[in-house]
Amino acid sequence: MFFKRRLAVRSGSVEASMFALRALFTVAAVTSVCKGQQDIICNVEPKDVHIEVGSSVEITCHCSRASGQILWTLNQNAVDESLSTSINSTHTVLSLRNFTKPSATLQCHSSHTNQILGGTTIKTYTRPRDVSCVLHYEHKKSKGIPNLFTCRWDHQANPLLKINYTVLMSKTLEKSSQTEICNSQKTSCTYKNIHTSGILIFFDKYTVTVRAKTAAWEASSDPFEFDPLQIIKINPPTVKVNSSSNRLLVTVEKWCPFTEDCRCQVKYYKASEPNETPKLISTTDLKVDIKEVGSCINYNVSVRCAEEMAVWSNWSPEQTIRTKLNKAHIRLCLWRKVAAEGENGKRKVHLMWKGIPSMCEERFYYTVKQTYYTKDKVIGNCTSTSCGNSPCDVEVDQDAHRLCLTVSSDEGLLAEESVYVPAVEESLPQVTDIQTFTQKGITKISWKAPVQPVRDYIIDWTHNGNRYDWKNSTFTNATLFDLLNRTQYNITVTPLMDDRTGQSTQAPQICSSMEVPEVVAIRDVQTYDTSASVNWDTQSQYTCSDVVTFTVFYELQEGPLLNITIDGKKHDIVLKDLKPEMQYSVTVEAKGHDGTTTSRKRFFTTKKFDPRFIKALSVCGSIILLFVLFFGLCCAIQWKKFLEKPVPNPGLSSLAKWLSQNHHKGVGIFQSFTHHSENICDQVYTEESRRPNMPSITPICYETQLLSSPEESISSLSTESSSMNPYRSQSSMETSMPRTEKLCQGDSGKPHEKTTPKSVYVSLSMLEQGNVR
Ligand SMILES: *[C@@H]1O[C@H](CO)[C@@H](O)[C@H](O)[C@H]1NC(C)=O
Ligand SMILES: *[C@@H]1O[C@H](CO)[C@@H](O)[C@H](O)[C@H]1NC(C)=O
Ligand SMILES: *[C@@H]1O[C@H](CO)[C@@H](O)[C@H](O)[C@H]1NC(C)=O
Ligand SMILES: *[C@@H]1O[C@H](CO)[C@@H](O)[C@H](O)[C@H]1NC(C)=O
Ligand SMILES: *[C@@H]1O[C@H](CO)[C@@H](O)[C@H](O)[C@H]1NC(C)=O
Ligand SMILES: *[C@@H]1O[C@H](CO)[C@@H](O)[C@H](O)[C@H]1NC(C)=O
Ligand SMILES: *[C@@H]1O[C@H](CO)[C@@H](O)[C@H](O)[C@H]1NC(C)=O
Ligand SMILES: *[C@@H]1O[C@H](CO)[C@@H](O)[C@H](O)[C@H]1NC(C)=O
Ligand SMILES: *[C@@H]1O[C@H](CO)[C@@H](O)[C@H](O)[C@H]1NC(C)=O
Ligand SMILES: *[C@@H]1O[C@H](CO)[C@@H](O)[C@H](O)[C@H]1NC(C)=O
Ligand SMILES: *[C@@H]1O[C@H](CO)[C@@H](O)[C@H](O)[C@H]1NC(C)=O
Repeated sequence: MFFKRRLAVRSGSVEASMFALRALFTVAAVTSVCKGQQDIICNVEPKDVHIEVGSSVEITCHCSRASGQILWTLNQNAVDESLSTSINSTHTVLSLRNFTKPSATLQCHSSHTNQILGGTTIKTYTRPRDVSCVLHYEHKKSKGIPNLFTCRWDHQANPLLKINYTVLMSKTLEKSSQTEICNSQKTSCTYKNIHTSGILIFFDKYTVTVRAKTAAWEASSDPFEFDPLQIIKINPPTVKVNSSSNRLLVTVEKWCPFTEDCRCQVKYYKASEPNETPKLISTTDLKVDIKEVGSCINYNVSVRCAEEMAVWSNWSPEQTIRTKLNKAHIRLCLWRKVAAEGENGKRKVHLMWKGIPSMCEERFYYTVKQTYYTKDKVIGNCTSTSCGNSPCDVEVDQDAHRLCLTVSSDEGLLAEESVYVPAVEESLPQVTDIQTFTQKGITKISWKAPVQPVRDYIIDWTHNGNRYDWKNSTFTNATLFDLLNRTQYNITVTPLMDDRTGQSTQAPQICSSMEVPEVVAIRDVQTYDTSASVNWDTQSQYTCSDVVTFTVFYELQEGPLLNITIDGKKHDIVLKDLKPEMQYSVTVEAKGHDGTTTSRKRFFTTKKFDPRFIKALSVCGSIILLFVLFFGLCCAIQWKKFLEKPVPNPGLSSLAKWLSQNHHKGVGIFQSFTHHSENICDQVYTEESRRPNMPSITPICYETQLLSSPEESISSLSTESSSMNPYRSQSSMETSMPRTEKLCQGDSGKPHEKTTPKSVYVSLSMLEQGNVR
């Protein structure tokens, strides 16, 4: 070093900088060596291992020097230590058996520092399996030696992986001389024109293997050994299928090119039930008769065949064929509904039947015959009615009948069935106490049997009176399915006796299902200060609607949603404990057995005061007001009366003597006072005073004008009246005398004492009517 430095100094400034660089590297190298004395350099081998699924692999972790104990992890999980073997101080081997993970990372760690020392990856692959090869034809009609050789196999592999497959074939006895037949990147591969290639010779045996190859690995299948004769796959046969009334006839054309013993399989199934397992018939005959077939049903038929030992051909194309009506399958059921007697004395009988498969394309002829019923005796002439199809209406009279239906086709009579029609008002057994129960679209019905013995019962039901359904029950109950939703049905139960039919009994009308009405509408909200009364109604286009409960939801804006639930029969409610002068919203929800309907939201605002209170208050107020008014009016009238009290005008009054009883009639003749008399003391004359022999009477004087009501205008001047009040009355002579004396001293001085007291009558009609005063 020293030498080098000296050199550098000599060689000038360029060398000087070179030297500096070298010195730097040298220092770095020394540092590295010193550090390396602490670190172990390890390697895990082999790298990027590809093994077959389920095989074993050994991985070695070898280090530059003694590493101490080594630990392994597989995909971050610790590996069982027993699988790891330490060979010497630097080498540790891990043995993995039956490795099946598609891909894994294996790492070796130092047990002291837990430091990762090295790692590798392990991936697995599978081998192609289930190799099979066939000899077959390129064209459908070809015969002779097949020209195509096709091998297929299975291979589970990552679909993204590009795999080259090679089919290798050799004679079984000469395995070493393998020939590459074909290459493919799919799991099948075809060699064309093998019949002219000379590769394949009949009566030799061959072995085929399939090799799969990728960049990383290569795997071969197990060998597939074959005899060329046994891998011939002939073309599917040509098939004809005919149907007759109770069977299918399948005819196969002879098709096997090599052997006489061609075997075939016939597959058939109902086209309407494609998921049922098809039936298979194996045969070596060319004709197959299938007898177990239903009436008027579509069957799909196909056939495959094979050379004696060879593989099956493909199935022939499926043919669809409909079977004919099989007489044995007819279960003719006949029923009738008898209408009330019409005006012409006839009854309409609605006759209906079922049991002929609906898919049949044949022509059927239905004839109804009616006979009078008397214990198997046909009375009179039988009338026949030809019916198009069920239902069919016929007419009978009041008597009991038996209606007989015959069904025939072009091939002859198929079936016959009869039904009894009772006479009008015939007494027959009938069921009682019919109970119905409907839930989830299924209606159950039960009844009480009549006392008489009954064979079974017919239950019929209708929703429109035109279309009837019916069924049989041997019990006193039945279950009806498939009723229309929300529809009202009439159900009738009729007992059947051996030869006759009982009386029908109708069940109460039922609804097949009940649902909530489609519309709930709030009709009216009456608001008060702390309560509101809400009423609503429901609408539905269906009769079969009901509500189990109503729930009324109401809330203040941003307040809690309150609810009240009430019975479905009620249509109003009073909401209580509301806050005055607030806006509320309310909705009504109808809940049925199956769903709910909610009304539109309605807003209302509560009043500040209870309007009823205000009403009461206003009523009271008005009553009081009226009372006050009335009172005021009375007062006013009184006051007016008081003010209007007329002043008696003495000028209009007359004075008369108060006659004794018998003179009373004469009172009417008065002499009027002179109105304009200046003399305050006018003379008042009695009637007598006008008589010649009567002394003149002392004048009566008036101090003031009198005020008196007209009613009082005639007032008796009674002697007894001690009152001095001149307004009220005019005193009798005696009492007035002193005053007269006082006022009129210059008058006749004849002593009054001598005058006998006399009653004086003053007519007060002196009041001028109207504007007195
Ligand atoms: C450990 O064993 C391996 C293989 O057997 C061998 O190559 C290696 O030299 C050995 N190392 C020591 C230090 O013995
Ligand atoms: C390999 O492992 C698979 C599943 O993990 C198991 O089914 C199979 O029996 C094992 N084979 C052997 C030879 O242990
Ligand atoms: C597969 O075969 C094609 C040609 O046949 C070749 O080009 C390709 O490299 C092959 N790939 C592998 C993974 O062997
Ligand atoms: C099949 O039916 C056709 C008519 O549909 C008839 O011509 C033919 O003879 C029948 N074949 C057999 C085998 O019954
Ligand atoms: C039955 O065969 C017909 C052809 O005849 C075919 O169209 C139909 O899909 C087949 N039915 C089923 C269920 O496969
Ligand atoms: C009722 O059922 C019995 C026995 O299954 C059958 O004989 C009869 O024809 C049926 N009646 C009707 C009207 O369906
Ligand atoms: C039955 O019909 C025949 C011929 O149609 C007729 O002569 C005969 O009177 C009929 N009998 C009755 C009972 O109606
Ligand atoms: C159902 O029965 C009632 C009462 O007998 C009758 O009024 C109504 O018309 C019947 N409805 C139908 C559809 O037959
Ligand atoms: C009728 O009732 C019997 C016993 O009560 C029951 O076993 C039967 O299933 C019921 N039949 C129908 C059709 O509901
Ligand atoms: C009848 O009601 C049931 C249950 O409510 C429903 O599932 C079905 O769709 C309804 N059928 C028709 C035809 O409306
Ligand atoms: C009605 O209100 C009560 C509480 O008052 C609550 O528990 C219930 O869930 C509410 N019902 C509905 C249908 O919201």
